[in-house]
Amino acid sequence: MTVDQRSPFADHARRLAATTLRELLKDAQRSARLRQRLGPVLLDLSRQKLDEPALDALGAFLEASGWERARDAMFAGAPINTSEQRAVLHTALRAGGAKLPSPAPRAVQDEVAQVLVRLDELVTAVAAGQGSRLGLADGITDVVNIGIGGSDLGPRLAARALTPFHATGLRTHFLTNVDGQAAYELMQQLDPRRTLVVLVSKSFSTQETLLNGNVLRDWLAGAYGGDAAQAVAGHFLAVSANVAAAEAWGIPAAHVYPMWDFVGGRFSLWSAVGLSLALAIGMDNFRALLAGAASVDDHFRSAPWQSNLPALLALAEYWNRNVQGRSSRAVIPYADLLGDLTSYLQQLEMESLGKQVTPQGAPVAGSTVPVVWGSVGTNAQHAYFQALHQGTDTVPLEFIGVVNPAHPLRANHEALLSNLLAQAAALALGKTTEEALAESKGDRVLAAQRTFPGDRPSTVILLDALTPESLGALIALYEHKVFLLGHLWHINAFDQWGVELGKVIAKQILPALGKQAVDVPGLDAGTVALIREIHARRG
Ligand code: F6P
Repeated sequence: MTVDQRSPFADHARRLAATTLRELLKDAQRSARLRQRLGPVLLDLSRQKLDEPALDALGAFLEASGWERARDAMFAGAPINTSEQRAVLHTALRAGGAKLPSPAPRAVQDEVAQVLVRLDELVTAVAAGQGSRLGLADGITDVVNIGIGGSDLGPRLAARALTPFHATGLRTHFLTNVDGQAAYELMQQLDPRRTLVVLVSKSFSTQETLLNGNVLRDWLAGAYGGDAAQAVAGHFLAVSANVAAAEAWGIPAAHVYPMWDFVGGRFSLWSAVGLSLALAIGMDNFRALLAGAASVDDHFRSAPWQSNLPALLALAEYWNRNVQGRSSRAVIPYADLLGDLTSYLQQLEMESLGKQVTPQGAPVAGSTVPVVWGSVGTNAQHAYFQALHQGTDTVPLEFIGVVNPAHPLRANHEALLSNLLAQAAALALGKTTEEALAESKGDRVLAAQRTFPGDRPSTVILLDALTPESLGALIALYEHKVFLLGHLWHINAFDQWGVELGKVIAKQILPALGKQAVDVPGLDAGTVALIREIHARRG
């Protein structure tokens, strides 16, 4: 690829283009700066196509950008989400576990503390089978989280990742999509009188969530002789910033837990949005998750860029995206328990950073977010790794591994880790034509197929173990990386106007899909043709 000659990194890119990761990795000292640890998290960037001078140039660029001032403004509650005039204070949600004093406004800190007390009371009562202490049904065994995007992905990721820490005996289920199949299957499986539904929606206006809420309300009402009010009072909670809408839907104010305008949906796991998770893992583990994130907040606020994990992660991504021109990044957790991490990061990164104008409305100077994709290893190896090793595009990868598993099957775990390490090495080192020729008995045609270009960059993140603390730290690491990339790309990482247009058009189309075909003025010919096809074909 051609490097933009005006880039301050052009010389570094040229120098590095003349060498290979195979060469760079011969230097045993190389890792010292490119491998950094924070508590249970090890970040290894030594397989990135970077050297010390290039890293220093990136660091100088970060320093010149005024990142520390921007970071401090976020922690202090300045309205950095300018298109909505909102503060960005997800860090205040876990500040109780931080060592550095929180610079968040006092009123925010107090509100956050009060909600944690309410969550504690709720989790304790429901886990003890005594929901009636709070006006809910007794004997709850199953919790259904209804929400989508940020109101689903965080608790879903953490509830699965922390399966070995489920401490209350309550089972959690996640109902997300408007596709009725999942709701239908869940209703076959659960006992309504033992089910607690948590409706999570910051806006309380999201179509998918409200539709699924209606379906479960009807189902529950059926178990109370059609008395929907009784069913909702005993079996529904809401988490929302729109208390009035939740109440209008039928949920008493005492059963509504707050979300705030200063916390974006995709940053909200740490708030009452984590309620379903807390009901599964218990409050001690939930607080440990917050403490893990708070330890990264402290680190992000105090460490110089050279040892600052979020800063290093952001700089490596900036290098790949803006200097090397890589348009996607694959995230491959070598842990089934982290099977929802990639989806979580897709929202965190792509909804935050998928922008093309500055907060002042001017076009951005270069590329912004790469496509984030991936799935668990080793499964991924047997699906698309062929293309990652020998395809024409170079895709940077992120491998996430866990040193100590939560199960005793040591041989399995060693095989899993050896695959992670092997893939990172194979992508970086490749196999030369000479090596391929030697193993192809001089057959040049076969050797060409068996050659690996190598020089394919990756990051390795190793957690000592997958615990509430280390998961909290891992997620906070990504959150701060996102903040820094928004800062470097001159975009607002905290709004999401790009999701609105499709929602508006879906509302326009909906009447046309009713029993009677209705003409919707303003629809394009392609959409009208598809609507006609649907009407003609359905039973
Ligand atoms: O459509 C995108 C989005 O607004 C996300 O930002 C948000 O996490 C999700 O929808 C759910 O929104 P809500 O919590 O308001 O239902």
